[in-house]
Amino acid sequence: MDCLVAIGGGSTVGLAKALALRTGRPQVAVPTTYAGSEVTPVLGETADGAKTTQSAPVLLPATVIYDVELTLGLPVATSVTSGINALAHSVEALYSPTANPVIDSLALESISRLSRALPRVAADPSDLDARSDAQVGAWLAGLCLGAVGMGLHHKLCHTLGGSFGLPHSPTHAVILPHAMAYNAPAVPDVMRRIAGALGVRDAPTGVYDLAVALGAPTSLQDLGMAEDDLVRAAALATSTPYPNPRPLTRAGIETLLVDAWHGKRPAGPPDFGWLTRQVLDSFADTRDPRIKQLLSDLVARLHDYVEANDVTEAEWQYAIGFLTRTGHITDAKRQEFILLSDTLGISSMVDLLTNSRTPETTPSAVLGPFFVENAPAADDGADIAGGLPGTPLYADITVTDVDGNPVAGATVDVWQSNDDGFYDVQIPDSHGPVLRANFRTGGDGRFRFWSILPSEYPIPADGPVGEMLAAVGRHEWRAPHLHFMISAAGFRRLTTQLFVAGGAYLDSDTVFGVKDGLIVDYVPHRGPTPDGREIDGEWRSLTFTFRISANQE
Ligand code: BEZ
Ligand code: FE
Repeated sequence: MDCLVAIGGGSTVGLAKALALRTGRPQVAVPTTYAGSEVTPVLGETADGAKTTQSAPVLLPATVIYDVELTLGLPVATSVTSGINALAHSVEALYSPTANPVIDSLALESISRLSRALPRVAADPSDLDARSDAQVGAWLAGLCLGAVGMGLHHKLCHTLGGSFGLPHSPTHAVILPHAMAYNAPAVPDVMRRIAGALGVRDAPTGVYDLAVALGAPTSLQDLGMAEDDLVRAAALATSTPYPNPRPLTRAGIETLLVDAWHGKRPAGPPDFGWLTRQVLDSFADTRDPRIKQLLSDLVARLHDYVEANDVTEAEWQYAIGFLTRTGHITDAKRQEFILLSDTLGISSMVDLLTNSRTPETTPSAVLGPFFVENAPAADDGADIAGGLPGTPLYADITVTDVDGNPVAGATVDVWQSNDDGFYDVQIPDSHGPVLRANFRTGGDGRFRFWSILPSEYPIPADGPVGEMLAAVGRHEWRAPHLHFMISAAGFRRLTTQLFVAGGAYLDSDTVFGVKDGLIVDYVPHRGPTPDGREIDGEWRSLTFTFRISANQE
């Protein structure tokens, strides 16, 4: 005898493996079901009412031939239970303690293929495409079975097959949804991925519903199991420990088996779709279509969020309290809602969507909470630092259109923090506006001013936003910058900031405001200044041209 050739299902392949173990002969496997055993080095044998498995290189068939035509004769009933057996390999591979990303992707692909192919096979067993998909799915599932350790589901099926004589693949079909429901609370992410591959909301009930739709058995009772044996089966299945995502308890496994015996559909998540639909329907008469769209989508996403995260009453109360405190701390000088929107990146998102769609203009950046309307007008060359300490800064600013033509008569608001990192509006006894002014560009589109070099500063962190930053372990610092808001008749307003190249926090600005095109050199100098001002020690210069775009209208 040169080799062993197994043509058939899992038992036939298993018999060849048993012979290979005893003769050392290589095997050729030609599977005609979806069991997957042909690509694993694992053999299960039953002796004295107990099934044991072993793994050895000699058990792995040397050659496997998949011939889809050989599966055409597989009866629908066996096709679907065998297919669910394959599904079980992939499901358990995903929560195996030895799981790995390669096997995960095979498992997900196999779940997706099998769940789509099996209904087609059941509808038309001669559909070669469906059969082929099912076979590929089963092959991938077999690779998963051979590569990583299995859990509760396989253990239960071995116990029920080995000690109670239940048929192999129908037992898989009955047990799988219940084993998944048992493990689901321990591996919600895995269940979400499986649900995604199945194309359903909830994985355990999705598998149960698939089994029902395929006409597969759903109860141990129908497989001939005696109700009296359930307690002993639970005891056997939990007698030796083995890895499983959710710890095994006798009582838990007994309940699982009782449910499976009765063929109960596992309890899935409640369906809240009716509630969301009622709220969305209540917006039906909204006159403004944009309001309707924004409100409907907000509600749908919030409902989804609450459901997906199983938000508790205490958590929701906290969220409401958080927003309430955000409102209470907000006044004319402190805008905590803007701060919240900034630190969550929403301001930058809105800014990007609204303003940065024209690559030929200077990038925009968030407004921030420290802009003040009607800042004092200042003349070309003015000093806006009001004598405050800091490294003197000479700014030479030009505003042009996108073709480089100067924009005369543009009004430009400039504001910045002091050397300690505070804006004038944050200082209770500050006398009038300082480090902020409103300039007007000359005929050449230019204006110049003196100020001080901006420094990094923390955003106000003594309110709800600070609480949020602390909770997530984030710092509250902004990279050093000057603010500019440029308005000119016939042009789109540009709100932006110029960041100090080499400054702190450029790559971790707490409001996500830094953009490459806005990081500029604040060049250090000593000696003479452009307008003859006398300075002892270092001063800096900032030279920048803003390019603004014409109004669309
Ligand atoms: C600012 O640059 O002034 C700022 C922006 C967002 C949040 C806090 C401060
Ligand atoms: Fe700022």
